[in-house]
Amino acid sequence: MKNALYVLCIFTFACLQSNAQTKTAFAIIPQPNSVMARDGSFVLNTSTQIAYDTDSDKKTANLFQSFIKNAYGLNLPIQQSGEGDHLIYFSSKNAAGLTNEAYELQVDPDKVVLKGKEAGLFYAYETLLQILPDTLTGQLTIPAVTIKDQPRYAYRGLHLDVGRHFFPVSYIKKYIDLIAAYKLNNFHWHLTEDQGWRIEIKKYPKLTQIGAFRDQTLLGRYRNPGEYDSIRYGGFYTQDEVKEVVAYAAARYVKVIPEIEMPGHALAALASYPELACGDHPGPFKVGQTWGVFDDVYCAGKEETFKFIENVLDEVLPLFPSTYIHIGGDECPKTRWKTCPYCQKRMKDNGLKDEHGLQSYFIQRIEKYLNSKGRRIIGWDEILEGGLAPNATVMSWRGEEGGIDAAKQGHDVIMTANSYGLYFDHKQGPDSEREPLSIGGYSSLQKVYIAEPTPKGLSAEEQKHILGVQANVWTEYIETSNKVDFMVLPRIYALSEIAWTAPEHKDWKNFSEVRVPARLAVLDLTGTTYRVPEVIGLKDTVVYASSYLVDQLLPSVKGGKIYYTLNGLDPSETDKEYKGPITVNVPAGKQRVFKAIVVAPSGRTSNFVETVIVNTKKK
Ligand code: ACM
Ligand code: ZN
Repeated sequence: MKNALYVLCIFTFACLQSNAQTKTAFAIIPQPNSVMARDGSFVLNTSTQIAYDTDSDKKTANLFQSFIKNAYGLNLPIQQSGEGDHLIYFSSKNAAGLTNEAYELQVDPDKVVLKGKEAGLFYAYETLLQILPDTLTGQLTIPAVTIKDQPRYAYRGLHLDVGRHFFPVSYIKKYIDLIAAYKLNNFHWHLTEDQGWRIEIKKYPKLTQIGAFRDQTLLGRYRNPGEYDSIRYGGFYTQDEVKEVVAYAAARYVKVIPEIEMPGHALAALASYPELACGDHPGPFKVGQTWGVFDDVYCAGKEETFKFIENVLDEVLPLFPSTYIHIGGDECPKTRWKTCPYCQKRMKDNGLKDEHGLQSYFIQRIEKYLNSKGRRIIGWDEILEGGLAPNATVMSWRGEEGGIDAAKQGHDVIMTANSYGLYFDHKQGPDSEREPLSIGGYSSLQKVYIAEPTPKGLSAEEQKHILGVQANVWTEYIETSNKVDFMVLPRIYALSEIAWTAPEHKDWKNFSEVRVPARLAVLDLTGTTYRVPEVIGLKDTVVYASSYLVDQLLPSVKGGKIYYTLNGLDPSETDKEYKGPITVNVPAGKQRVFKAIVVAPSGRTSNFVETVIVNTKKK
């Protein structure tokens, strides 16, 4: 039933976008760098065969076979040969001239050829899924086209904080599917926090016996003192589960970068092993129950701190093949270090001029350890303070300045600036009252879309250090996986396009008015929660007029409807439907409010937008 519904809906959706012969008619996100549409189409039917060249190609071919079976109930045979009729051919053989993540997708009436190596072939497959199927006739057709594509940035990431709230492996896999579908290639898994330690470490069982659970959690927005829910909360991933996630991600060409935070955000570890904090007989500590930054951090003076971290890393490294290991480094108050005899002695012995120097000593020591194991560190931009570790890559989050500074010093950079809208825990609309509770900030779809991760002020050589871009999903105010989906969708579409598409092929109008509505129409058929964007073409504003034409409004989800009121009340689908231009007449001395929402085919609704029309003429 679900499959039938899916196909039926895709048919309807396809009708709306049939006869598509221009590149923009293909609703692909991220926008490929070259799309040449041609006449004709390939018909997917029971005589279609899937073909592949190598075992590696077969992995992607198998994913396609499963997709077709689930979506359309078609059981397509699969063969290791490019010979034959009516093939969908996954081929690395002819991809010699392509870089690893580049691909070509050629759809002809008699054959579909996907060309690429490893990740490139997988991206060809993801693009193919987005152009399936287009039909007016009841047939499953794929429009004839040649697409040639490659990414702008090598690093394209999405992060998830599982410390503040915990998400099960089943959801993490779904999240990885989403990352892969939008051609991102790194999942930054934020595994340790003040409010919960989330990865099993066999040598230190208390990290998960004690550190993975908190006795209660702050209710609502941060307040001190606040109200708490009186519910014990927690969870962690076993090492077997971590391996399962890493393998699942690898099959989709996504690297998993673990973050083991230090020296701050360590309260859950200190609740488990208080001796790792400053001073003699420190603690006891409780796993964090509220948000923010805590003064109790790892002691940088005690040798046992470094032994502990090295032992933890010794168990982490075999689980994660990624060259990069994220060691945090952000928001580490120096309060305890200032009065700790061990920290002060360390500073004196090493000639460190202040506590920033001590933080730098800490990070450099861990970097040296990880480098000796063949790994490289990523740290938040605070690792610049007190001097950068020699081989560190900087994740610039407080703005782009840290990234600029690091690139000028010859260090690699990943841009995840909140000023670029890359904090997906920030609200998506301007009005907090209309949005679910969030940490604050405002990161609209457009703000993310127009972000330019390579700052202009850098020389060509320095620009090469901008490896790419990432969005972060901090979960203080995100308790459920539905809310993660809501915060990520549709902003991941904009992230994927700034990460993948060459700037000259980006186009906000086409993205927001055509491709996002089309992709959301497909998403709308599933159970996944997402934020329905506001009506396109209407603004929250005040205009002065006696008569005002509301024109050219578009639903933000293809197939959705727009409903409006003029009486100031919140519109619903019981109100009038907007079907074309409306003239709002306002008597002298009065005002009218044109207030509209989008209702998606599933019934999901957008926030309202209202234009207030004021006639200032005297009666
Ligand atoms: C951060 O948002 N504290 C990296
Ligand atoms: Zn100390």
